[in-house]
Amino acid sequence: MPAPTDQTPAMTTGDLFADHDDGQPQRLAEAAVLLRGHALAFIDELLPAIAGIESRSPFRHMITRGGHTMSVALTNCGALGWCTDQRGYRYTPADPLSGLPWPAMPPAFTRLARDSAAQAGFPGFLPDACLINRYLPGARMGLHQDRNERDFSAPIVSVSLGMSATFLFGGLKRTDKAARLPLFHGDVVVWGGPDRLRHHGILPLKGPPHPLLGAQRINLTFRKAG
Ligand code: SIN
Ligand code: FE2
Repeated sequence: MPAPTDQTPAMTTGDLFADHDDGQPQRLAEAAVLLRGHALAFIDELLPAIAGIESRSPFRHMITRGGHTMSVALTNCGALGWCTDQRGYRYTPADPLSGLPWPAMPPAFTRLARDSAAQAGFPGFLPDACLINRYLPGARMGLHQDRNERDFSAPIVSVSLGMSATFLFGGLKRTDKAARLPLFHGDVVVWGGPDRLRHHGILPLKGPPHPLLGAQRINLTFRKAG
């Protein structure tokens, strides 16, 4: 083993994550992985598909069960869409704004979700719901569990696009200490099995705008809801 030398460059924030950029799935927990940049191969299909969805079912700020307006704006595609109002959280087949079914799941979405889940050890994932969250600078998502789905045997597939963000990945109890993980354009996080009900969230969005998407972050969350 070579002796350490004083040639070793000082650690920078970039270096801290450089070893995660080798294209290998990074294990976050027993059944949770980070796939760095995995969505980049799909990006030419994802962005026009999001624009098409947004033209039919625009991003809107929903109200939580607690009566707070969410800082994140959301829309959905697929057979079921996640909604919240003062009556609570639920999945609906129609967009409450238009009364029409949510836009269909674009084939590239389904392929990305299926492929990501398979890489994480969940073959055969077929999502029926994709929540699309849009964060502008300052928007955040508090620690929560995804638990409005009918059964928890299917994983969650979460895709990051645009500005970088700090993902909080906690435990099964809300008070468990959450790991902080930087997520970049194209990253995909998958969690399921014993990790399916882990708490997670996003710190307030900050930092430079993204070259392609500008001053926003878009998150796609694929689920089997029904
Ligand atoms: C969510 O849990 O709904 C969103 C997570 C994220 O934006 O990465
Ligand atoms: Fe979530």
